[in-house]
Amino acid sequence: MDPRCNVNSFYPGLNWSDTEGRSIQAHGGGILYNCGIYYWYGENKDSETYRVGEITDWECWRSDVTGVSCYSSSDLIHWKNEGIVLEAVRDDPSHDLHTSKVVERPKVIYNEKTNKYVMWMHIDTMHYDYAAVGVAISDNPTGPFKYLRSFRPNNCDSRDMTVFKDDDGEAYLFYSSEMNKTMHITPLSEDYLGVGDHFSQVFVGQSREAPAVFKHKMKYCMITSGCTGWEANEAQYAVAESIYGPWTVKGSLCTGENSARTFGTQGTYVFPIIGKQDACIFMADLWKKQDLRESRYIWLPVRFKGDSISVGWMGKWNLSVFD
Ligand code: DGJ
Repeated sequence: MDPRCNVNSFYPGLNWSDTEGRSIQAHGGGILYNCGIYYWYGENKDSETYRVGEITDWECWRSDVTGVSCYSSSDLIHWKNEGIVLEAVRDDPSHDLHTSKVVERPKVIYNEKTNKYVMWMHIDTMHYDYAAVGVAISDNPTGPFKYLRSFRPNNCDSRDMTVFKDDDGEAYLFYSSEMNKTMHITPLSEDYLGVGDHFSQVFVGQSREAPAVFKHKMKYCMITSGCTGWEANEAQYAVAESIYGPWTVKGSLCTGENSARTFGTQGTYVFPIIGKQDACIFMADLWKKQDLRESRYIWLPVRFKGDSISVGWMGKWNLSVFD
């Protein structure tokens, strides 16, 4: 635990610990709210970082897959480690979850019809040339999750992705496709284990990744980053009245110093605070590319003004900002 952290606030960018005092490992993560508890799922990157030597045209820093972590909290500050809920596979190099592969950006949604928790994630080879999604399922939010399969949605390449569950129970997969040039949006099947046979293309040719999707006052909002590997760039946001678009790009998300680099981070998720009005938190990763397990978390409140949103820097804050 960073000595500057006290027990009642968020300290973006400092070392966040779980209730046992160990650094939280939940990168590229997302939140599921269930019966008064927030569950935080993310990449456990607790392994050595190294650069993939054969890749010379971009800096492919990686850490071997250890699995997907889950933490639980009722106040969003104190996080209990629920362990690795989807384990890496160590003895089968061909398996999607083998330590040598890529398992990124896990997101979990609950399916009321099947009473199952469904995890979606980016599955790839260490060279990022498989470009697929993986699906896992559990009876409990704290797992264990059973890995089902990987596939390319709509027969298209898929790298950074997220899933979004709408108020009516319909859910959607957003994925960076066409070699990251264009974002695709496709519906999930009723059981959330597959996708429909249609998709829409948005931000065509604009090379956006790291989608984070939420809804506010009947409008959809999508925050994305540019494609610069582990380096930070400017987060932008877009709004839409229909999930498939048209999506109107509104511009930069962040305000103030270092906003052009999203305060050194890359977004991963936005979630609402249950029971509060206009209260959403933007979650982002402060990547440390040469030591990925030391990457930090930046959570900041989303400010709403008419059709616009913004995120400003705060070194320390708590939920009273929403009162
Ligand atoms: C940017 C992506 O958003 C991350 O999830 C990760 O895939 C890195 N690229 C790898 O360089």
